[in-house]
Amino acid sequence: MSTPAHPSESTPSRRSGRPLGVAAIGYAFMGKAHSNAWRNVASFFDVPAFEQKVLVGRDATAVAEAAARYGWAESATDWRSVINRDDIHIIDICAPGWMHAEIAIAALEAGKHVLVEKPLANTLAEAELMTAAAAKARARGVQSMIGFNYRRVPALALARELISEGRLGTVRHVRAAYLQDWLSDAQAPMTWRLRKETAGSGALGDIASHAIDQIQFLTGQAVMEASGTLKTFVTQRPGDQGMENVTVDDAAWATLWLTGDMGASVEASRVATGQKNSMQIEIYGTKGSLTFDLENLNELGFLDATLPSREQGFRRILVNEPEHPYLAAWWPQGHIIGWEHTFTHQVRDFLLAIKDGTQPSPSFEEGLQVQRVLASVEESASNRSVLTPVHAKSLVAEGA
Ligand SMILES: NC(=O)c1ccc[n+]([C@@H]2O[C@H](COP(=O)([O-])OP(=O)(O)OC[C@H]3O[C@@H](n4cnc5c(N)ncnc54)[C@H](O)[C@@H]3O)[C@@H](O)[C@H]2O)c1
Repeated sequence: MSTPAHPSESTPSRRSGRPLGVAAIGYAFMGKAHSNAWRNVASFFDVPAFEQKVLVGRDATAVAEAAARYGWAESATDWRSVINRDDIHIIDICAPGWMHAEIAIAALEAGKHVLVEKPLANTLAEAELMTAAAAKARARGVQSMIGFNYRRVPALALARELISEGRLGTVRHVRAAYLQDWLSDAQAPMTWRLRKETAGSGALGDIASHAIDQIQFLTGQAVMEASGTLKTFVTQRPGDQGMENVTVDDAAWATLWLTGDMGASVEASRVATGQKNSMQIEIYGTKGSLTFDLENLNELGFLDATLPSREQGFRRILVNEPEHPYLAAWWPQGHIIGWEHTFTHQVRDFLLAIKDGTQPSPSFEEGLQVQRVLASVEESASNRSVLTPVHAKSLVAEGA
C-alpha cells in the first residue's frame, strides 16, 4: 500500500527523482502532532513531493491503528529495519529522549535526513556524538534539524525580526518562564518523563530547553555562563509496582549571561498550579521591549521607547497579517492560528532546506549549544554554587 504524493507537489527528491519517503518514530503526543503537520503541510505551502510512508511504534496493533488514522501508508515495530529501506529518505524522531542519539546517528549514517524532537539528547556526551554525526552527514548532503517548534510561532518569528532590525536597540535582559502544572498533583503517576535514565532531566530538559532556545534565537546571542538550582517537590509517585522514586526535577531556575553583555533569567516548572502551558517571554532593550505568552500565541506586546513618553505604552500586535511570518499561507487576516501550526511550519522549513540542499535551522549544533546550557545549570545546581547562605543577623540586637 502506498500514499499518493500530494497533488500540489512537483519537486522530486534531489537524490533519486522520487518523492521523499518519510518515516516517523513514535505515535503518541509528538507523533500525533508531527503526523498532523506532515498530513496538512502540502495543502498550505509549496513543498517538495513526499509520501507519508511508515509510522513506527512498539505495539503492532496500536501503531497500525495510529498509522491508518494519521495518514501513514504502513506501520512497523522495528525502527532499525525502517531506516535501512531505500524508499525512506527522512526519519522524524518523535520518541523519548533516551532513544534520540541511537536512532539519529544510525539514520544519518544510513544517509537519511533527520528531524528529531527536543531536547537533542539526554546527555551532553550523546548530543556531541549526534552533532558530529550530523556534520559528517551534511558533507554528504544529508540534513538534520532539531524540533524547537516555538521558533515557528509567527509572533516569535516576528519578535526576532524586530530585534534583528534594531527596533529594541541593545537588548539588556530577557525574562523567560515556562510553566505547566500537570505534576502539581502528588498522585500523578510515574512516566518515562520522571526517570533520569529515560528523560535526562525534568522541567529543565523538557521545557526550560524551549525557553533557552528562544532566548538565543530571539536575540541572536549565545549563553556563555549559567548558574541554577533544581528542585524535586514530589520525590515519590505511584508506578506499576507501587511507589517509585522520582529522579528528575519538578522545577528549575537559572540565571544566564550571554554574549552582547546580555542577562537572562529562566524559570521552568511542571508544578506551577494553574499554569497549563504558559511560556512567557519579556525582552528589554534600550529602545523598546517585547512581551509574549504562548497561551495567547497570536499576540505580541511591543513598546516603542523612541516615541515621546506621553504616547508610549505596550501595544498588542495581532500577528495575523499576510506580512507576518508564515501567515500568508493560512486564513484571511484575524482568523487566528494555533499551537499545532508550529509543527506544520517546522516540516515546511525542513522540506525546503532538503530541497535547496541547505542546513535547516535549528541545527544539531544549535541543539548542542542548548544542551551545554542545560548541563551547566545541572552542574551549578549539584554544586549548589549559586546558593550563598543568607546569614541570620539580628538588626534589633545591633540597635538598627
Ligand atoms: N516540541 C514540543 O513542544 C514537545 C512537546 C512534548 C514532547 N516533546 C518531545 O518529543 C519527544 C517524545 O515525547 P512525547 O511527548 O511524544 O512522548 P510520548 O510518551 O507521548 O510518546 C513516545 C512515543 O515513542 C514511542 N516509542 C518508545 N520506544 C520506542 C521504540 N523502541 N520504538 C518505537 N517507538 C518507540 C512510543 O510508542 C510513543 O509512541 C521527547 O523528546 C519530548 O521531549 C516535544
